[in-house]
Amino acid sequence: PLRIAVLASGRGSNFAALLAARERGELSADFVLLASDKPDAAALQLARMAGVPTLLLEPHDYAERRDYDAALFERIAASKPDVLVLAGFMRIIDGDALKPWVGRMINIHPSLLPKYRGLHTHRRALKAGDTEHGASVHYVTAELDGGPVIAQTVLPIEAGDDENTLATKLLPLEHQLLAAVVSLIADDRLALTDNGIAFDSEPLRKPLRW
Ligand code: GAR
Repeated sequence: PLRIAVLASGRGSNFAALLAARERGELSADFVLLASDKPDAAALQLARMAGVPTLLLEPHDYAERRDYDAALFERIAASKPDVLVLAGFMRIIDGDALKPWVGRMINIHPSLLPKYRGLHTHRRALKAGDTEHGASVHYVTAELDGGPVIAQTVLPIEAGDDENTLATKLLPLEHQLLAAVVSLIADDRLALTDNGIAFDSEPLRKPLRW
């Protein structure tokens, strides 16, 4: 089975969704590592309870971002993952560290990319008067939140929605989206090629919808 390492900085509900998908038999994968940059990340606790090995590496122990990222990705590589999943990992990753993983690292981002890269995506969608919002799973490249988008889930914005209601409604959709994409990878149905994403060996012209 596919060997997956997950990187998470916080609550870890997307990681939990992957564990649950495996539990239900919908994802054939081994979780070889949960890595975090935050000692109080609930994701670490979830991993311990699930018997997934953990790695905590704190940025303040390193002088420079690139030193931290080099150390982090060296430790991750030692677990021999096939794929890295960023599930609420809230750091920008140095280009040199991520380069060997291009095509093997995905991220979930709470917006309909290419809209709203970066932070405060719910607030920005509301402020722009958008009628729909959503989440995207994309391959990670050196461009922040700018790699090729694999799949998206769409959420209508309703009158009365605020940042909290949007986040609350989007989260379960994120969980389904991420689990679905990771199982496509586990089933060897996705690849990043020089011409973009291939889905079942055909070029993917627009993101899959969930
Ligand atoms: C999720 O909403 C995810 O999309 C977002 O952080 C949250 C993590 O929740 N990721 C980003 O904003 C990445 N820039 P979780 O810890 O419960 O999975």
